[in-house]
Amino acid sequence: MASDRYRPLSGDEIDGKQDLVDLALVERRNYLHIRIIYAIVFSLSVIINVLLLISYAGSSQTSTDRGRTKYSGITFDAEIPYHVYTTYWHPNISDEVSNEAWDAIDTNPMAVSLHDEFAKEVGLGPSTRFPWDTERSIYYVKGFHDLHCLKLIRKAIVSKHNNDSQTFNLHHLLHCLDGLRQDVLCTADDTPMPALTAHHVGDGQLRQCRNWNKLRAWATRKDQHACHAFNDYREATNTLELFAHCPEDSPYRPVMEAYFEYHGHKDPYEPRDSGNKVIF
Ligand SMILES: *[C@@H]1O[C@H](CO)[C@@H](O)[C@H](O)[C@H]1NC(C)=O
Ligand SMILES: *[C@@H]1O[C@H](CO)[C@@H](O)[C@H](O)[C@H]1NC(C)=O
Repeated sequence: MASDRYRPLSGDEIDGKQDLVDLALVERRNYLHIRIIYAIVFSLSVIINVLLLISYAGSSQTSTDRGRTKYSGITFDAEIPYHVYTTYWHPNISDEVSNEAWDAIDTNPMAVSLHDEFAKEVGLGPSTRFPWDTERSIYYVKGFHDLHCLKLIRKAIVSKHNNDSQTFNLHHLLHCLDGLRQDVLCTADDTPMPALTAHHVGDGQLRQCRNWNKLRAWATRKDQHACHAFNDYREATNTLELFAHCPEDSPYRPVMEAYFEYHGHKDPYEPRDSGNKVIF
């Protein structure tokens, strides 16, 4: 290819001049090719470096934000000791004190009203419409639901032990137990607990926890507060009544009040035919 162009250099002067011009053109073209190749290699290197930086930044973020939830955004940033004896159980504590402590656990924030946009963004499926805002649906926050289940199971056990007349829906209790079983497996808590004394396993041990108060703050945020209040130990029949508790500053209070002004209130726990409910 280029050998054809080099050969005339040894020919007469005029042809040689023309050939020199040709040669210069070829060299310039070759130089242009090299410049293009350099530009491509340089661009590729810049792109690869940028991609590496982005992936590095991404991985370092996930390592510091380990366990950050995509819903409330809380992380394992609270170091909290585990205790064998608490107000909720202690061999020498009176039933009144421990019952009161358990009853005082607020599970009302279990229901939150989430905006359609947010639900879509975090990949939540459809749910029951929030009665006071057509762009929101009701979701039940698992942590609060689990606490509700624990309160209910404990109440059933204590009531049976005390021969109380209160009855419980056995299916509800068993549903709660199976839910808790799955949550324990999902959490797969690997904390090795020192066993120094019988029944004192892990006492005082620090654990890395999520902050419950932050979860509560998220669930009760003004716009997400579902105006929900209920009795953990009873089965509601008129469930709309459970959402009749908008706080004073709730943006949904006027709509809620207008609804009940027109329709009136019902007994949330109105007795009904229990159907095939299994009573415990
Ligand atoms: C419970 O009370 C008994 C008798 O006063 C006492 O010996 C025991 O240490 C107490 N148990 C706890 C866990 O405090
Ligand atoms: C409950 O009833 C059983 C059998 O009737 C009785 O043995 C037990 O002492 C009672 N328990 C309480 C806490 O009253």
